[in-house]
Amino acid sequence: MHDLSLTIKELLKKIDPPIAAALGHVDLSLPLPPPVQFLSAGEKVHLAALCAVKRRRQWLGGRLAAKEALIELFTGQREQWQITNSADGRPRANFLPDPERFRADISISHSHDLAVALAVAGGYACGIDVELMGMRPHRLRERFSKRTEDEIIARLSPEKGYTMLWCAKEALRKAIRPMPGFFDLELFALAPQANGYIMDFSLGPKGPFRCHTMLYKGYGVAVFINKH
Ligand SMILES: CC(C)(COP(=O)(O)OP(=O)(O)OC[C@H]1O[C@@H](n2cnc3c(N)ncnc32)[C@H](O)[C@@H]1OP(=O)(O)O)[C@@H](O)C(=O)NCCC(=O)NCCS
Repeated sequence: MHDLSLTIKELLKKIDPPIAAALGHVDLSLPLPPPVQFLSAGEKVHLAALCAVKRRRQWLGGRLAAKEALIELFTGQREQWQITNSADGRPRANFLPDPERFRADISISHSHDLAVALAVAGGYACGIDVELMGMRPHRLRERFSKRTEDEIIARLSPEKGYTMLWCAKEALRKAIRPMPGFFDLELFALAPQANGYIMDFSLGPKGPFRCHTMLYKGYGVAVFINKH
């Protein structure tokens, strides 16, 4: 069994020039530490307004994963990092003791029992997405996959192919501004790599945009990092 952080570190090494980045991941099937031990005061207020049990758990898991990544990348205690969401939902990291000290972009994703977060330092935007591998993305493929992409994806099983395509497009959408629609992005190349695939996308005249996807404990995971 491979470790997700190690796999992503291996992937990050392939990006030139080298980028300082870190990954956090939380197994939501296990008990989480008490929120009081890792949330900032502002985050505790936000948590109090979340009622649905599943949403609370995924929100907490995402925060914990993001803080793990930020501490590995920079420094600090969990409660010193505050994760807020901007008006469009995008997560932002603030180091409360010294808000000007670190520049980072973060991305969060959760699916079933897995929450993940990616943090990258200065000058880059990042997107991460996880999705439990299954037939759901295949059933919903008409909402996000073009016919030309169906032909490329046909090299993989429908389950794996559409889960990976979904994750990759979500990871790109989280990092690119303005946020592209699913059909604005077009997969044009797919190449196998350890535990997953390299997927290259175009976005009109822009691109190519390279997304690294992989399999991890029955989940599809996609990671995308883009220079600002
Ligand atoms: C953002 C989006 C890609 C999330 O994907 P998803 O597969 O549903 O869910 P995931 O678990 O993978 O990701 C959820 C996380 O994405 C992040 N997120 C939400 N909106 C985001 C955005 N606009 N950009 C980047 N990241 C975003 C959040 O951190 C969220 O977790 P949190 O609420 O616990 O902090 C999807 O919901 C989407 O397309 N939303 C439309 C956004 C939009 O058009 N907003 C305009 C309204 S003003």
